[in-house]
Amino acid sequence: MSESFLLLRSFAWAASGTRAAAEFVHQMNSFIWCVFGKRGSGKTCEVKRRLIALLPEPVNIVIYDPLDEYREPFRTRGFQTARAYAEFRAIVNKSFAENRAYLRVIFSPNGADNASGDPVPEFERVAGQVKRWKRVIFLVEEADQFCNATRITPSLAWMINYGRHEEQSLIALSRRHSTLNRNLTAQASLITTFKQSEPRDIAVLEELGFDGDAVRNLKNWKFLEKTL
Ligand SMILES: Nc1ncnc2c1ncn2[C@@H]1O[C@H](COP(=O)(O)OP(=O)(O)OP(=O)(O)O)[C@@H](O)[C@H]1O
Ligand SMILES: [Mg+2]
Repeated sequence: MSESFLLLRSFAWAASGTRAAAEFVHQMNSFIWCVFGKRGSGKTCEVKRRLIALLPEPVNIVIYDPLDEYREPFRTRGFQTARAYAEFRAIVNKSFAENRAYLRVIFSPNGADNASGDPVPEFERVAGQVKRWKRVIFLVEEADQFCNATRITPSLAWMINYGRHEEQSLIALSRRHSTLNRNLTAQASLITTFKQSEPRDIAVLEELGFDGDAVRNLKNWKFLEKTL
């Protein structure tokens, strides 16, 4: 794996123009990246943009995409799409049978596997597969649906705690820090925040070294971030 495999290198800054490229060099082959911000503040767009820049890297990527937002632009960039667990398994099995170098899948649940209305069991089935892979980025949109303050699935917990040994990385997007499971946020190697205004969320970010007023006053699509 190239030294530059992770993430968030100067390309992102060059593209966004929001901060000096030199400020952020984050070269890791296992990372946990949490992205926060009020609704519509630009989280998904920014993550997509950085993910596009990562595509040349030899790494498996699974995008857990409950709102079906990643099909464009990734479907035409080598990603297969699955809407239910059986489809996901079929893609995985076929790729292994074909001895593909690496796998790129977008999983957008269509509800077929979710008679209970609880999205967590289906997530855990997918995460249970992903945690068995080496060198994988698992991107979880709307992450607080699956690992909130009081609940985290076993496979996600495993990836957080031990995934480093398998070069596994996580990207978790959520509107608020406080709604994400603390086991995840505590291990974050990078936190990006778009605009926030809830006092408790600002307080946590301040404890992590962010400037609370700056976070409160961020314009749409602008962000601040810290490596931890
Ligand atoms: N850098 C940008 N420049 C111009 N428009 C942008 C930019 N980033 C996001 N947008 C627009 O803002 C809208 C919201 O962006 P996005 O979906 O990324 O927000 P979000 O923080 O993920 O929202 P949510 O919390 O609802 O998931 C989108 O329609 C997008 O087109
Ligand atoms: Mg979003």
